[in-house]
Amino acid sequence: MRVFFITSNKGKFLEASTILREYGIELQMDVNHKKVEIQSDSLEEIVSAALANVCNGPVSDYYVVEDDGLFINELRGFPGPYSSYVYKTIGIWGILKLMADARDRSAYFKSVVGLCGPNGIRLFTGVVHGEIATEPRGSGGFGFDPIFIPLGYSNTFAELGLDVKNKLSHRARAFRALGEWLLGNR
Ligand code: IMP
Repeated sequence: MRVFFITSNKGKFLEASTILREYGIELQMDVNHKKVEIQSDSLEEIVSAALANVCNGPVSDYYVVEDDGLFINELRGFPGPYSSYVYKTIGIWGILKLMADARDRSAYFKSVVGLCGPNGIRLFTGVVHGEIATEPRGSGGFGFDPIFIPLGYSNTFAELGLDVKNKLSHRARAFRALGEWLLGNR
């Protein structure tokens, strides 16, 4: 069974491949397919549209697409599905500025992982709750990891490192659900 992850994000690939290895699945990075991204408020719609573009006929391999968002409650869910654009534009410091007077710092990451293959399309979801730090801390991970403190911890994902992040992150939860499904259905 060959499973390709359509992404150019090395941080995402490292996390996902480490998880799937627990299920005996050797994930391969696919940079040849372009991940088509429609604009939508729904991660599920974005992932479904990207998959439809890849598996538009019979396929013998499995393809995986992931889309995530950081949803900040004080900002009514912003940046959500626009997290990648917001990260590239105002970045971590922009988010911290928007949160300067926030009383509620709670937030969550959500990951939607889509799989298409010989037996159709399936979506898997993972969520991790936590809060936005008051300043960036740590050097591990990627993206908003230096300002996200998962519930029950006092360190950011960037400080906690890959082993801990892969126990509780949104991505870890979604990819574990995918791993379980592949084990039972291949
Ligand atoms: P996308 O799924 O590539 O659109 O990801 C959205 C954005 O959310 C990324 O550009 C990252 O900045 C951020 N992001 C996604 N997953 C994580 C994570 O695990 N940690 C920190 N930031 C993340």
